[in-house]
Amino acid sequence: RMYEREQLIRINKEAGQFFYNELTQNKVHTEASSYLNHRGINQEIIDKFLIGFAPQGWDNLLRYLSNKGFSPAIIHKAGLIIPRTNSTGYYDRFRNRIIFPIINIQGQITGFGGRVLDNSLPKYLNSPETPVFNKSRTLYGINTARQKSRETGIVYMTEGYFDVISLYSHGIENTVATLGTSLTDEHVRLLKGMVRQVILVFDSDQAGVRAAARSIEIFCKQNMDIKVLILPEGHDPDSFIREFNSDKFKKKSENAKHAMSFLTDEAVKKHGMSVEARLRIIEDMKNPLTSINDPVARSLYIRELAERLGVDEAMLLQRIGHSNFAPP
Ligand code: CTP
Ligand code: MN
Ligand code: MN
Ligand code: MN
Ligand code: MN
Repeated sequence: RMYEREQLIRINKEAGQFFYNELTQNKVHTEASSYLNHRGINQEIIDKFLIGFAPQGWDNLLRYLSNKGFSPAIIHKAGLIIPRTNSTGYYDRFRNRIIFPIINIQGQITGFGGRVLDNSLPKYLNSPETPVFNKSRTLYGINTARQKSRETGIVYMTEGYFDVISLYSHGIENTVATLGTSLTDEHVRLLKGMVRQVILVFDSDQAGVRAAARSIEIFCKQNMDIKVLILPEGHDPDSFIREFNSDKFKKKSENAKHAMSFLTDEAVKKHGMSVEARLRIIEDMKNPLTSINDPVARSLYIRELAERLGVDEAMLLQRIGHSNFAPP
């Protein structure tokens, strides 16, 4: 097993090298280079993130790795090739896509993400789960974010590849992303020893707000300090920092809302402030508040909500705490 993991890491490294060489040395792929160029990604950033390109064609990578002595079986295990259905043999999973190697905290490539160059679907393709790649334990950018995150005690949590890369290239290196999956306890554990605060910066759309709400509960269970940076409607971190600049982004992050205020604001937006509405807000806040494991923090947030809604604190505590605090 140990040996297999090492082999998979070695294959991924070779594959990453292949994709990188295709992008940076094969002059045929001008559309890939100009795509990245249009998105503000320069050579320095390509090198930092080992960005590459998977060429068109069915077996470029397969042939490259076979020539390096890897068997189809192990290349398949790495998720890089797919068995043909109507004949024997395999074909490359990633074709005609910009490639983002997914690198763990030890600097090893564990998987890949690939983006199309146009509007075709699926927009992104990721490696399947393999013995070395598990999406629910993987944060894109963890290796490039580590140092700055430790120094500042803060990490930005975004949704995607370009968000991490774009913030990094604007000097905000302490940025990671979940890869199209919802946040898990394991993601939180990865960050927990590294930072004291996480600033969520999700895409400013319906899906983003929902993802933020879910993530907050998961972070609170592990007593992490969470803030939410809200971008203008329709923006994601990448588009925002490219349209505005890093000072504007930093200004926004100084004004980031505390997670519980963010959730309360969202609930007020949804329900209003009538008596019935305030009862619904309390219902909405019940789960997030009970997910705060630190009892002192929880009671402070309950007081804040009570003041905001103009209800008696003891009564709110009773309502919220009902399921969690054992009655005498
Ligand atoms: N994602 C994915 N598969 C998809 C769509 C999205 O795995 N079909 C993941 C990718 O990691 C992506 C992230 O979810 O980066 C966020 O998705 P989205 O906001 O749609 O993409 P962006 O990262 O904003 O990509 P782009 O700016 O290139 O449109
Ligand atoms: Mn999105
Ligand atoms: Mn996005
Ligand atoms: Mn984007
Ligand atoms: Mn810029």
